[in-house]
Amino acid sequence: MPLRARSRHHRGANIQVPLLMHTTTPLLQVDDLHLAFGGIKALSGVSLAAREGQITAVIGPNGAGKTSLFNAISGFYKPQQGRVHFDGDDISALGASRRAALGLARTFQNVALFRGMTVLDNIKLGGHTRLKTHPLAAMWYLGGARREEMALRQEIEREVIDFLEIDHVRHQGVAALPYGLQKRVELARALAMRPKLLMLDEPVAGMNREETEDMARFVLDIQEERGISVLLIEHDMGLVMDIANHVVVLNFGQVIGQGTPAEVRANPEVVRAYLGDAAVTAVAVPA
Ligand SMILES: Nc1ncnc2c1ncn2[C@@H]1O[C@H](COP(=O)(O)OP(=O)(O)OP(=O)(O)O)[C@@H](O)[C@H]1O
Ligand SMILES: [Mg+2]
Repeated sequence: MPLRARSRHHRGANIQVPLLMHTTTPLLQVDDLHLAFGGIKALSGVSLAAREGQITAVIGPNGAGKTSLFNAISGFYKPQQGRVHFDGDDISALGASRRAALGLARTFQNVALFRGMTVLDNIKLGGHTRLKTHPLAAMWYLGGARREEMALRQEIEREVIDFLEIDHVRHQGVAALPYGLQKRVELARALAMRPKLLMLDEPVAGMNREETEDMARFVLDIQEERGISVLLIEHDMGLVMDIANHVVVLNFGQVIGQGTPAEVRANPEVVRAYLGDAAVTAVAVPA
């Protein structure tokens, strides 16, 4: 059964139809990005759009420039050329923290959590990107920070920790958690930022099948129940073909194809550069 039909609260419902009818606005628009590290051109004129309410996937071989693209969008790297528009604004000149505050949240290809801290404290750091008070003041409950901190904590418990089913580990240190749960805590921290666009860099890399299906289900629920748009890098083609609305293919820092999962799967250049014959016939795309 396709993953979409297994989403927790919409089993078998025709949920895609109403969503897709209202998803024509580009929430993120990237135009002609060029990014080089010395002589290595990571991005050579990349343009793409991520539409509101959709899951947009970025796929391509190792070293194609996918993570570099995420770094340029989220403001960690400064491209030599090109523009990024988000939610109607040109954010090209803004730093990473300003972009995060506008609603761009991301997870990292390698889990990037504070290993000495608990699950709850890691997640709260995500929430603090949008609080007025300095995170350290809030953490130690100084003065007026206390009420804001309490409200944040309640919201996180309800809308992030319960939602992602990690309440049983909330007071544990993250370092000792199984890998799949660490990835889920990272997702929780990004969700606590109340993003408009959630950027996930290989969310199921290194996961077993069960962990992968759990993660896929959460990503779908985030889209369908929360209405949050998702930009997803992933090598798991079964997952991409199952949950993405739109797929963009990168190769050597350039977009070599894009379209619906079915269109991309049938694109000869994409097959040649990345998918290969075996992968294409092996993937079952839901009608
Ligand atoms: N900070 C950096 N300094 C130098 N070169 C870099 C840096 N980041 C990326 N690169 C180079 O840019 C190119 C694109 O790398 P990138 O990590 O974006 O690829 P990717 O598509 O995410 O690959 P993967 O699927 O393996 O994660 C590679 O040649 C890489 O070595
Ligand atoms: Mg990468």
